[in-house]
Amino acid sequence: MFRLPWVSRRHSASKLHLVMLLAAVLNSVETAATFCPNGCDCDDETLVVSCVQANLEVIPIALNPSIQRIVLKENRIKIVDAAFQFYGDLRNVDLSNNHLVTIPNNSFEAQKQLVELHLKHNKISALTERTFQGLKSLTVLNLRDNYLEILKNGLFTSLTKLEELDLGQNRISRVDPEAFQRLGSLRVLYLDDNQLRGIPSPALSPLNALAELHIGLNAFSSLPDDGFNGLSRLAVLDVTGAGLDNVSEGAFRGLNALRNLKLGGNKLREVPTRQLATLPRLEDLTLGQNDFTALRAGAFHGLSNLKRLEVCGAKLLTTVERGAFNDNANLESISLNSNKRLVSMEDGALAGLPNLRHLMLRDNAFVTFSESLVAWGELRRLDLGENPLVCDCELHWLSEVLAARNSTPVVCAEPQDLRGKSLKGMAPDELGCAFSDPRRQALVATLGGAGLVLFAGLALLLYYRCRRRVRDALKDYKNRAISRKEHEYQKTFSDDEYIVRAAHAQQQAQVAAGIKPIPVTEL
Ligand SMILES: *[C@@H]1O[C@H](CO)[C@@H](O)[C@H](O)[C@H]1NC(C)=O
Ligand SMILES: *[C@@H]1O[C@H](CO)[C@@H](O)[C@H](O)[C@H]1NC(C)=O
Repeated sequence: MFRLPWVSRRHSASKLHLVMLLAAVLNSVETAATFCPNGCDCDDETLVVSCVQANLEVIPIALNPSIQRIVLKENRIKIVDAAFQFYGDLRNVDLSNNHLVTIPNNSFEAQKQLVELHLKHNKISALTERTFQGLKSLTVLNLRDNYLEILKNGLFTSLTKLEELDLGQNRISRVDPEAFQRLGSLRVLYLDDNQLRGIPSPALSPLNALAELHIGLNAFSSLPDDGFNGLSRLAVLDVTGAGLDNVSEGAFRGLNALRNLKLGGNKLREVPTRQLATLPRLEDLTLGQNDFTALRAGAFHGLSNLKRLEVCGAKLLTTVERGAFNDNANLESISLNSNKRLVSMEDGALAGLPNLRHLMLRDNAFVTFSESLVAWGELRRLDLGENPLVCDCELHWLSEVLAARNSTPVVCAEPQDLRGKSLKGMAPDELGCAFSDPRRQALVATLGGAGLVLFAGLALLLYYRCRRRVRDALKDYKNRAISRKEHEYQKTFSDDEYIVRAAHAQQQAQVAAGIKPIPVTEL
């Protein structure tokens, strides 16, 4: 009799418990869906959680489980624990600039949809073949600026969709032959700024989809024959600052698709002409900060598709020889900036370049430029700034060329009274042209007078010889005689003055044709 109510009471009590529990669970689910840690920004519509500089030490676990993107950069997170298993829909994870030291095996096993994983600027020193297990959709993996030393075989085997892998700025000194196994989709690989002593050719050769390889800032000293074997689709190769003093003749063999080569910041004593000649499709070449003294005739022999050449900061470069670009009729842009000893551009050095539109000769040692160096009027970008120019009448043509452009200053270094002044639009007498010299003025006056006397004498002679005919024809020839007189008068100007006039006329024609002046220093 007494048991039943007890039982029923217990029953109802447990019912109550159940309801309370359910309510609590529901409540907690609801809070979870909207829970957002301090310093974070959680958007349940876009499914993006952003916790930049939020002082986090762990990855938050109570976020909306449907989030697709989580930005956790610039925190103090030390470990990737099991947190990611709660977020199976993630497409993009950014853990850059944290204190990660290690990533436990299988941390990302639930991330079947993850496309981008950013781990830049942490302290990760070790990876195993299970670190990235399960990331079967990953296309971008950024491990730049970590403490990696050795890339062992099979590290990235799960990442069959990977297209971009950034391993730059680590301490990698060894890359095992099968380190990049199964990365058949890889298009971009950064291995720059590591401690490699040679091209890891066996590891690279299976990467037959690779389009860009950045492998500068290592300590190669030389590039051996066939070092890039197998990379038949490589379009961009960056070997900047790799300590190269020698490039073997067949170093670039097989790079049949290469269009952009960066070889700057090495110790090359000559332009590697024969080595480059195996790259017929090359369009962009960067060669600055090397130790050569000249760009010799035929230096870029065979590079008939070359469009852009940059040689900046070559400390020993003094001369660009005539014919330096004689095999490169497609050149559109030449940048020779900050070559502190570059004083000489031989006449004809830039001849035969009908497509040249950008000419940058900034911050070199040029004291003058020749008007016949290039078709100045055809250039869309021109920068001649920061050269120690001697501004005399020889450069008057340039003052006119510059005046026609919306240019930044090209400043004179000499003579003393013009130092620091802008050459642009400088008047002929300021530049010491034509009539400013009294002796020259006297000479011109004498010649002019003599011309007039001669003309008058001839006219008189003619007049007395054939009076009648002259009288009859005088009306018709009057105008022509006047124009001839003008011609005589013009001849009395110096050659400089004549060129100035021609250039001026050309300039006016350009203005009339509506050609807009182009800024000189658009970089
Ligand atoms: C992680 O996986 C690697 C490779 O399978 C294994 O050698 C290592 O012992 C694993 N680490 C841990 C902590 O289980
Ligand atoms: C560069 O290497 C080639 C062989 O690859 C060698 O013949 C040549 O002497 C080397 N030059 C220098 C300057 O080391």
